[in-house]
Amino acid sequence: MSKVDLSVNLAGVKMKNPVVVASGTFGFGREYGQFYNLNELGGICCKGLTLHRREGNPPPRIAETPMGILNSVGLQNPGVDAFIEHELPELKQHDLAIIANISGNTPEEYGIMCEKLSEAGVDMIEVNISCPNVKAGGLAYGTKPELAAEVTRMAKSHSTVPVMVKLSPNVTDITEIARAVADAGADALSLINTLRGMRIDLNTRRPILKMNTGGLSGPAVLPVAVRMVWEVACAVDLPILGMGGVAKGGDAAQLMLAGASAVAVGTALFADPLAPIRVREGLCEIARKRGLSAVRELTGGVKPW
Ligand SMILES: Cc1cc2nc3c(=O)[nH]c(=O)nc-3n(C[C@H](O)[C@H](O)[C@H](O)COP(=O)(O)O)c2cc1C
Repeated sequence: MSKVDLSVNLAGVKMKNPVVVASGTFGFGREYGQFYNLNELGGICCKGLTLHRREGNPPPRIAETPMGILNSVGLQNPGVDAFIEHELPELKQHDLAIIANISGNTPEEYGIMCEKLSEAGVDMIEVNISCPNVKAGGLAYGTKPELAAEVTRMAKSHSTVPVMVKLSPNVTDITEIARAVADAGADALSLINTLRGMRIDLNTRRPILKMNTGGLSGPAVLPVAVRMVWEVACAVDLPILGMGGVAKGGDAAQLMLAGASAVAVGTALFADPLAPIRVREGLCEIARKRGLSAVRELTGGVKPW
């Protein structure tokens, strides 16, 4: 039986397989590292970092939905310096792409973090301009083309590693933001972040989440992610890390056919810590059954009507 080549290249970052774990759903790998060897993964998008430590939002901050979850975690993290000192050395022991995910209150904060992380030796920086759960920065940058471009320029001018900008689905036309970010020099795009949602308790009439609203992720968002990856892939010539609801090889294959070069698994991890490995194996099987010699041959292969 011929072997399928799983390796991919995301904006110059070589990965032995196209499956990474999505930011905020895998911490810095310590807990999941007890279940399996992190070398099984193509890469890790680390928990979102800010310049200074953040406690995140008050609980309840996770609510289940029929096909996913709503979260309003709000970027709880130890801060970029603590990550570099305490988490990065351990992660570097492994053979996987280390993608640091950052959020800033100002474009300048993005610049400072990019400088620190480039120097510390991460493989790539994922610039989050799409967090729906924080007041400052976050989503505000991701919904306005000129602000998204400003943050991208700042990140690029302070980085020596590839910069991937994470787009929000909470916009009318995602290609408008994608084009602005591409013109500002981004090396890659990742999408989608969570979709804003809300649940209400009928008895108390209170929203289930203390922040009232949160971000929806999981299987419910997969078709939205596939549609947006396809639209963005048609609009700009940048490699894409696709995510949103991936739980099986077939989900990942759809995102790749729509135009993604690699995929991230997030919410599926909460039900099955081994989900990324199953996704990798499923993708391999899909490629093999269709006679492909490399899984990257799926990228952009959709045949629209
Ligand atoms: C609990 C939780 C925390 C998240 N934290 C971050 C974060 O810190 N930075 C970020 O860019 N995205 C964050 N995300 C968004 C995910 O990385 C991903 O874009 C989204 O959940 C869609 O993928 P999924 O449906 O596979 O989870 C978070 C998602 C969840 C569920």
